[in-house]
Amino acid sequence: MKIANIIVLIVVFALYYQQSYAQQPGKTDAIYSGLPWYDQYGKVVSAHGANIIQEKNLFYLFGEAHTDTSNAFVGFNCYSSKDLYNWKFEKIALPVQSSGKLGPNRIGERPKVMKNSKTGEFIMYMHVDTLGYKDQFVGYAVSKNITGPYQFQGALLFNGKPIKKWDMGTFQDDDGKGYLLTHGGVIHQLSDDYKSIVAETNKQIASGFESPALFRKGNTYYFIGSHLTSWEKNDNYYYTSTSLSGPWIARGLIAPKDQLTWNSQSTFVLKIAGSKDTTYLFMGDRWSYPRQLSAATYVWQPIKFYGDSISLPSYLDAWNIDLKTGLTVEKNSIYQTIEHDDKRIQYIGDWARSVVEALPVSRSKAENASCSFTFSGTQIGLQTVVLPDNGYANIILTDKNGKVVVKNLIDMYSKVPAARIVFLSPVLPKAKYKLTISTAGERPNWTDKKKISYGSTANNITISKLMIKE
Ligand code: DGJ
Repeated sequence: MKIANIIVLIVVFALYYQQSYAQQPGKTDAIYSGLPWYDQYGKVVSAHGANIIQEKNLFYLFGEAHTDTSNAFVGFNCYSSKDLYNWKFEKIALPVQSSGKLGPNRIGERPKVMKNSKTGEFIMYMHVDTLGYKDQFVGYAVSKNITGPYQFQGALLFNGKPIKKWDMGTFQDDDGKGYLLTHGGVIHQLSDDYKSIVAETNKQIASGFESPALFRKGNTYYFIGSHLTSWEKNDNYYYTSTSLSGPWIARGLIAPKDQLTWNSQSTFVLKIAGSKDTTYLFMGDRWSYPRQLSAATYVWQPIKFYGDSISLPSYLDAWNIDLKTGLTVEKNSIYQTIEHDDKRIQYIGDWARSVVEALPVSRSKAENASCSFTFSGTQIGLQTVVLPDNGYANIILTDKNGKVVVKNLIDMYSKVPAARIVFLSPVLPKAKYKLTISTAGERPNWTDKKKISYGSTANNITISKLMIKE
């Protein structure tokens, strides 16, 4: 065999071997909330403060790319999906600029993309700021291709002046008119080409009202937003109106009180119209500062309607949507569970057994505490009880040769205790694997610009159950 052929074979084998541990296309079988998702390269999907637009039978997800080391802007990612379950990384739709307002050491948040049907262009809007959140405005970028690269144009202007607001969103009405939403509930109408603002459609409804997300069902507009608590989650609330210019009627919370919107903050509502029903998908962020790349996750839940009231009445770990009919159904667990005190789990270091939220668990905050489980199968997951004094856990999944299949930081913190799935590995070739979960010795914890402190009070990790698929 010629040397060139041998090299080709080695490269093909190396690529296959490397990719066999990434999430295989089509393998994710539901919308799972609150756990890291993996793309076709086995990398964690990083797209927060996101929105989705549909184009030619594909859904495109745009969101903030993050790192685990700094809050500085590192670009906006674009992923695509046929089914809303499996996300393929397309590209960094808007990369960090070499200098300027979206250059190094700046803030870029909440990208939202809309297609302008008159020009055929895709317009991306975003919150631009200094690292300390002291000089915000709404910027925009333009691309002829949906995935980008988008060309940053600077500030979106209204009468020649920038909109000096931070949290923002967008809404496209049924007549094709585009709107910019900013915190407080202000709505501005965009020009025909979506590149400037022509009118203030609605004045401030409430102070705060961050992360604005608006959708329309029939003749009613629903306007969702959050209280102002930095990256900490709170009880999001909403207004309704039959006109974008109001009057807006306060309708209360969108999820049961004190559940903190199932531990998330709104960012967008995606309408999915099918032959039998139209589903409105609530997209929320479960932030995890400072490890926003590895440990921040997504809370995507179907909105339920009761007349013109809306709610997320219960938390669905996993659910399915039939894109043809628009119908949704909760997914029953397909996993065999292994309790935390199963003899096959090997605990090392200082652990305590206790009962939290009526669930028996093993807990530790000791340095170098770990537990390991060896199994034969195709997938493994972890259920914990998220708690106010939980921190980050390190998760490592290795194959029989000790090769690392998945390595991730998992956030077990929540201000509201709840039993939750926090990890599911990609679907793997059936074989023997070992999962090790250990204390990371750190926790989500931060102060905002007013020096108010938020987050977890300790570095505990909590094991409730492992989940296995053969
Ligand atoms: C809350 C906002 O909703 C987020 O987008 C982010 O800007 C944080 N504040 C920063 O504290």
